[in-house]
This record gives sequence, C-alpha cells and structure tokens, in this order.
Amino acid sequence: MKAKAFENELTYRYYEETDDVEAFHEAYEDAVETVRAELGETHDLLIDGERVATDAHFEVTSPGDQTLTVGEFAAGDADDIDDAVRAASAVADEWEGFDVADRVAIFRDAAATMRDRKFELAATISLENGKNRTEAMADVDEAIDFLEFYSRECERSNGYDFDTGEPTPGQHTRNLLRPYGVFGVIAPFNFPMAIFVGMTAGALLTGNTVVAKPAESTPLIAETCMAIMQDAGLPDGVLNFVTGDGPNAGQPLVEHEDVAGVVFTGSREVGLSIRETFSEQGKHGPVIAELGGKNPVIVSDAADVDAAVEGVMKGAFSFSGQKCSATSRVYVHEGVYDEFTEALVDETEALVVGPATERETFVSPVISDAALERYESITERAAADGTVRTGGAVRTEGDLEDGRFVEPTVVTDVPHEHDLARDEHFLPFVTVHPIADLDEGIRKSNDSEYGLCAGLFSEDDAEIDRWFDEIESGMCYANRSQSATTGALVQAQPFGGWKYSGTTGKFAGGYWYLQQFMREQTQTRVE
Ligand code: SER
Repeated sequence: MKAKAFENELTYRYYEETDDVEAFHEAYEDAVETVRAELGETHDLLIDGERVATDAHFEVTSPGDQTLTVGEFAAGDADDIDDAVRAASAVADEWEGFDVADRVAIFRDAAATMRDRKFELAATISLENGKNRTEAMADVDEAIDFLEFYSRECERSNGYDFDTGEPTPGQHTRNLLRPYGVFGVIAPFNFPMAIFVGMTAGALLTGNTVVAKPAESTPLIAETCMAIMQDAGLPDGVLNFVTGDGPNAGQPLVEHEDVAGVVFTGSREVGLSIRETFSEQGKHGPVIAELGGKNPVIVSDAADVDAAVEGVMKGAFSFSGQKCSATSRVYVHEGVYDEFTEALVDETEALVVGPATERETFVSPVISDAALERYESITERAAADGTVRTGGAVRTEGDLEDGRFVEPTVVTDVPHEHDLARDEHFLPFVTVHPIADLDEGIRKSNDSEYGLCAGLFSEDDAEIDRWFDEIESGMCYANRSQSATTGALVQAQPFGGWKYSGTTGKFAGGYWYLQQFMREQTQTRVE
C-alpha cells in the first residue's frame, strides 16, 4: 500500500491508502475528546457579518448519546430570514463584481483550513450526526473536493465569460453567465458538511449571495464550515446563516420575494413543494434539487457473489442506510439467490452496531426519534408480511442505552410491489427478491418513481452494456464491491438522479453543476 498520508488533494482516498492507519485513529480520537469538551454552547445566527442572538433556541443532542448536548441553536424565524435576505441583496452587485480569481482564492483558502482541521471537523460530524469515523472523514474530504473542483471549474471556464469576437464586422460580442442574485441554500443532515459546503460554494463561486439554512439536527458542523468560509475573506452579507426548522425558517426563505433561486437536498416531498412555491409565485430562478432514492441492485447469475455481498452490505448499511444513495432493494438471479442471501445475512450479522466514535463501529445511530419510530414500524410490517432474515431490533444494551441504535436488517419474501420495497425508508433496511433473469431485474429496477443510484453485479460484459443502456438511473455502478450504490467521488463520479430523484438539477461534483446557478447573457457592442 502507498503511503499517501494526509495531504492528498482529493483526500477521500487517504484512509484506505495510507500506511499510517494508527496515526489516523489517534488523531481522530484526540479530536473527539477536544470537540466533546467544547460542546453545549449557545449559538447565534450570522446576518450581514454580525452574530445575531434570538430569544428562542432549540437543543441538539448527540444521536448516539442523548444526554450529550451538542449545543443550543438560535431558532430563526421569518423576520431573521427577511433581515438575512436583505443583507444578501444589498451586497449582490458588489459580489458579482468580484474577479473570479478573487472568489476562487477565498474558497481555496477555506479548503486549506478544512484540510488543516479535518480531524476536528470529522469528530464534530461523528458527535453531532452520528457518522462513524470513516464516513465522517469522507464527508470532510468530499467538502474539500467540492471546493477544489468548483474552484478549478470557475478558472477553467474563465468565470463563464467568453469573448465571441467579431463574427459580424463591427459587432463585438461577449457571452457570459451571470448570477441570479440571492440564493437560498437548504441542506440535509446526512452529509452535513459535504452537501452544505458544496451547495453553498456552488452558489457563491458563481457570484450569487446566499442565505443558508442547515438541517435542524446538524447546525454545528454547518456553522463551523460557514465560519471557515467567512473567515477566508467573504465580505459581510455575502453568506448569511440562519438556523431553525423548516416551517419557521426554511419556508419563509423559499417564499421570500427577493430569493431568486434555491438549492436543496432532501426529501422528494419538500423538494416538490419548493418547486410548487416558486411556480405559484411566478419566480423565474432555478430550484436545484437532489431528492430521494430507492436504489436497486441486480445480482446476475454471472456475478462474483462475494463481491456482490460486500457491495450490497456496504451500500445498504453504511451510515445506517441514511443516504439517498443507499442500496435498498436487491434483485438476485434465482440461480444464486440462496447463496447470496445467506452470505449477506452472515456478513450483516458480523457488523458492529455501536457509538459513532468507537473504532470498530460500522452501523452507527440513526438521527432522530422519528427515524427510530419508522424503523420499528417497517420492521414490524416486514415480520408480518415477509421474513426478517436478520435484524429488526432496536438496541439499548450497555453504552447504547442513551442513543438511537438499530440493527441492520435484511428482509425476504415481500413482493416487489410491497411498499417496503417501494418507499424510501432512510434506514439500514434492505429487501432481497429472486428474479428469473436480467430482463426481470431491469424491469423491476425501473419500476420506481425514483432513479438515483443503481448497481449491477455481473462478470458478463454484454449484460453490463445492456444494463447501462436500459437502466433508468442517474448513477449506474457495475461490480462496485466498495459499495454497490453509495460513495460517489467528486469529479470522478458526478452525482445526481433521474425521475423524482432529481428535478432540474445537473449533477453535484460534475462539469455542468455550476452553470445552473447562473443565467446567460449575450452583450453585443457595435463599434
Ligand atoms: N454523494 C453521496 C453518495 O454518493 C450521496 O449524497 O453516496
């Protein structure tokens, strides 16, 4: 193995590639202690470069230990949103006038700070949202990758500003992309750093100003990243930060008349309601949305079954299935169905359920009481309508007592049409279904309102080619044992979905992403 150590530009790969794994664990564990000792503070909003206190606050506790208070966060409301949007509007022209090189310099500086503080940031993610150390570090690395990649894209395209020359004599033309104005950024809990930073930087690097609202359960890591970007040199008012819940802070942000565009990652229901609001208000700006998934994997009779088991297990259960990309239904050729299912059950039973910060933990806690209740409800229904092959229980023994821990669950014998196999659950829960052939697997995979990620395990190139042609999915991974459907890398695997998984959005971490944040203008000057 290569010693690539800590300084990789695209650092996601570091954890598996370094020789110095012990140094990683030690640095992470030290950071956990430091961050833990600093939790419990009261946090304000940031509006126009000033910290703004609110009367009301909400408490965030650690999902792995609800006796641990992460912090008390300002409960922003419509008035705070109004102040924040006004501040963002007031500096929109000034920020648009910045040279692209100056904007890029700020985000490169922010990326460098995040790289320097990566263990602290990963520890914050583990304590606040419950990701185990590998997943938390991947979240940090992905955020850094977004900053580096989007910065490079802005430079490569000359700030999306082209001199088209003088094709008609005497008429000189410039064709450019210009910002819309103020963007609302509404971020999810499950990639509380990467997606928050990626969406915010996307809007800002392209010259928009921003009012950002993080997920209610993960405001601390978002605030830390906001402060890093602010301290890297953003002028006051360019990035404003309002914590709060959906109805009181998110909705007024979407509805504010001076908010020109929204970038959102989260549930299909909320994404569609944002679009509806924009259309009712007759807004012309974009709603850039990444929504849910119900991600199918096909295991062909030409598969390497061990690779398929590993890929499905990691795809279904990493971060407890709380990824829009999580593997959630598996269609297995009847010739290898028993072998695959038994091996998947064995591998799943070997996974350690535990606190996020413990070294051996694979399945860490789920985010909320609502998630816990959803788990109880779907596992009860799975037991009634199908067979729970492993899992199905909430875990409360020993040091799990104060957290929200559930077992990774494999279910068979529910029909493909059953809502357990159709709805997104956002939990460590996967259904396995026998199929007669690849045709049936593709038909059932495509029989969904979603089209985010899909996987195929087959050693037959012709099957892979056919599957690529016919599968209705934004992300298509063949034979990916590192995870059948999750873990797209910025630039290498631009990420997004078809159908209800994505709406207007081009893929995050891809070459067409930034253009969506701008509108085109052609300027002709007759000389
Ligand atoms: N980009 C993430 C993944 O690929 C999901 O948001 O898993």
